[in-house]
Amino acid sequence: MSSPPRHGRPSTEEALSFLRKSGCNQKVINHCITVAKTAVEIAESHIRRGVNVDLALVRSGALLHDIGRSATAKVKHGAEGGRILREAGFSEDLARIAERHVGAGIPKKRQRSWGFPRKIISLRLLRRRSSATLTSLSAEAE
Ligand SMILES: [Fe+2]
Repeated sequence: MSSPPRHGRPSTEEALSFLRKSGCNQKVINHCITVAKTAVEIAESHIRRGVNVDLALVRSGALLHDIGRSATAKVKHGAEGGRILREAGFSEDLARIAERHVGAGIPKKRQRSWGFPRKIISLRLLRRRSSATLTSLSAEAE
């Protein structure tokens, strides 16, 4: 992918291409595909019940949520993923999905020392939010 779409909803092919280009291994890519399938299933069930969900954002966010694993296998891969996506020109909402899919259950003091963003999604917030957090929920389910 030469130039990522600024609107933040890359196609499945574009997202997979960026994962490969960034150096994610096949195991990580397979994980991202599984997470995306689950996230889309959850999102579609919400849509059927009348919830307004940005399905393209859920799909692309789930596919790219672990892009930071191209840089590190440590928990900092979330923050790295946000950085990678911003530097590549992806939208802010995709970058936030990547950087916030980790951190649930980690004390705030440790989150800061690990370079997590100040506003990290807590489990309580996960229950309240819909589209972006569906990727986190499905990642937890895998
Ligand atoms: Fe991850």
